[in-house]
Amino acid sequence: MNDTALLSGGDYAAAVAAAVEAAAAYYRDGSTSLGDDEYDALLRAIAGYEQAHPGEVLEQSPTGKVAGGAVQGDVPHSVPMLSLDNVFSEDELADWAASLERRLGRPVAAWCVEPKLDGLAVAARYRAGRLHRLITRGDGLAGEEISHAAGDVLGLPAVLSEPVDIELRGEVLFTREQFDRANEVRTAHGALPFANPRNGAAGTLRAKDRPYRVELTFFAYGAVGAAEEELAHSALLARLAELGANTAASTDAAPVRCVTVEQVQERVAQIAALRAALPFGIDGVVVKADEAADRREAGNGSRAPRWAVARKLAAEHKVTTLLDVEWNVGRTGIIAPRAVLEPVVIDGVTVTYATLHNPADIGRRGLMLGDRVFVHRAGDVIPRVEAPLVEQRTGAERPIVFPEACPRCGEAIDTSEQRWRCSRGRNCQAVASIIYAAGRDQLDIEGLGSTRAVQLVEAGLVADLADVFTLTRDQLLALERMGETSTDNLLAAIGAARSQPLHRAFCALGIRGTGRSMSRRIAAHFGSMAAIRAADAETLAAVDGIGPEKARLLVTELAELADLLDRLEQQGVGTAVTEPQAPSPAADTAEGGPLPGEGGPLAGEAVVVTGAMTGPLAALSRNGMNELVERAGGKASSSVSKRTTLLVAGEKAGSKRAKAEELGVRIVSPDEFAVLLAEHLPTQG
Ligand code: IVH
Repeated sequence: MNDTALLSGGDYAAAVAAAVEAAAAYYRDGSTSLGDDEYDALLRAIAGYEQAHPGEVLEQSPTGKVAGGAVQGDVPHSVPMLSLDNVFSEDELADWAASLERRLGRPVAAWCVEPKLDGLAVAARYRAGRLHRLITRGDGLAGEEISHAAGDVLGLPAVLSEPVDIELRGEVLFTREQFDRANEVRTAHGALPFANPRNGAAGTLRAKDRPYRVELTFFAYGAVGAAEEELAHSALLARLAELGANTAASTDAAPVRCVTVEQVQERVAQIAALRAALPFGIDGVVVKADEAADRREAGNGSRAPRWAVARKLAAEHKVTTLLDVEWNVGRTGIIAPRAVLEPVVIDGVTVTYATLHNPADIGRRGLMLGDRVFVHRAGDVIPRVEAPLVEQRTGAERPIVFPEACPRCGEAIDTSEQRWRCSRGRNCQAVASIIYAAGRDQLDIEGLGSTRAVQLVEAGLVADLADVFTLTRDQLLALERMGETSTDNLLAAIGAARSQPLHRAFCALGIRGTGRSMSRRIAAHFGSMAAIRAADAETLAAVDGIGPEKARLLVTELAELADLLDRLEQQGVGTAVTEPQAPSPAADTAEGGPLPGEGGPLAGEAVVVTGAMTGPLAALSRNGMNELVERAGGKASSSVSKRTTLLVAGEKAGSKRAKAEELGVRIVSPDEFAVLLAEHLPTQG
């Protein structure tokens, strides 16, 4: 980040004012126009200027103050509640560790690496094992009493397992699940949802007279008083768990004791990688000297300890402007809103679109066009708009206009469910689905391209795929630009499509997540459309590549398609499980031989095909080759990786061949491959 020392004198004063204001808003109710990254960068620029101009430091400067000097409280802390210094990269972390060791004059005995929980710091005082008071961090010296909220915080027991006097310190936050639940409860009470979990936790802990209660979670990461302070930090965490407090040890991002800085960096990377999958938000990883002697000797600064540091991770929440809302119609007729955003970089990725779930959700969140909004993006999950920053409205915001008719076909919209849907349902997509189903990798119906599909749907002859198989010669001849020859050719192609093998008929249904290769696996596993339709989620999940979620989706989609499937069956489509008797001359398929299974000549092989095929394989498309590979028991894939065991390299094979050579993958020519698979080659027409 390019931050330090770029400020001029005038900019410095403005930067201080902006930081003070942002910190005040943040600690008041979480409302801020600055994201965490921007606030951190601003603070570093201020600190850079102050270092270069020590005589000009403004009294209200946030540097060196807990919570940026923004909050005060009235319950004094027994021992100051400090903040943490930040580092932003592997190098900065290594430098920090080296400087601590220089200061001690010896290596740090061991480190403890743990998640930096993104919530609110609290102190929980226990007397004789009973929770006596709960206090916020405040300015670090005194905090606010929030004992009224203690009963709603999981992991913060009212009574510990032993009657000890101890003050637990830790973080209170909403897990993602608790956050969603809290917003449901709030909106049911007519309140606006919380913008993000941390703001929500701050607001919830401090609110006293709400007519509803929502649950939060406590994670202990320290303790004051008692003999516990003499323990190694990792041992202290175990002791706190023993007393009944929740700690990060109960999560995948458990604290780990490390001996070398390399091990520290590795655990930091692991926790960072886990971030998106954790059930709660973290904004960094905390590295602490583990042994009490090292911590004691390193000591504390006025704002932060010298024995601990936060390796900050890029913020997952950013503030940007909601420019527009688009309405897209999915294959099943669902009309889904999508937010168009002023582009914003979140964790290195530019985000321009974000999901808005459904119209009811837009209403609940009270969003308007032109609003400043919180956008959340974690890992590879689709970014989502969380909530507007209502206090920043200028009056120029406009209501979001909901469509009155299906944006694709103009039909009425069924608004009876939360997710709106075109009243034609899947038929709204009739043309698109028919073109897809007739494609050469599915039912391969030559003559049924987009022009013809539109013509058939518009003439009212075809509303879905099954109707294609009921078309009569007279109906087709009555259409414009349909002569006898094209009619007969089309009817012949439709007739041939009836005997396409199961995997192609299944693929033609266009079920989400079932492309060609998944369809081949499903067909091979079940052997008939009836067996696929009879399968429950558990049975489907036995197919390689189908997880529990996809299995459930498949069951739902198959149920929705029941009528279409019945009618296709009546037409004899998808009932063939072996090769079609008379493949068309142009067939690019490889339908010969047994169904894919365990025992073929390619069993256990992960095969990639590249370059132009020649000899007996010349007529096969890439899909045809992949079908061939899978029928011979292998697994077809499109890219060469460490897992690849065989590359079929035809003429003009380029980078894939080079990569396979580099990885030492076995390479064969199309001719050699054809010999290997002689039995499985397609019947020549
Ligand atoms: S140690 C004296 N450990 O981060 C030690 N703090 O940015 C100070 N935080 O005020 C705290 N997770 O609210 C520590 N595992 C963790 C933490 C953690 C989150 C918070 C804490 C602190 C803030 C500093």
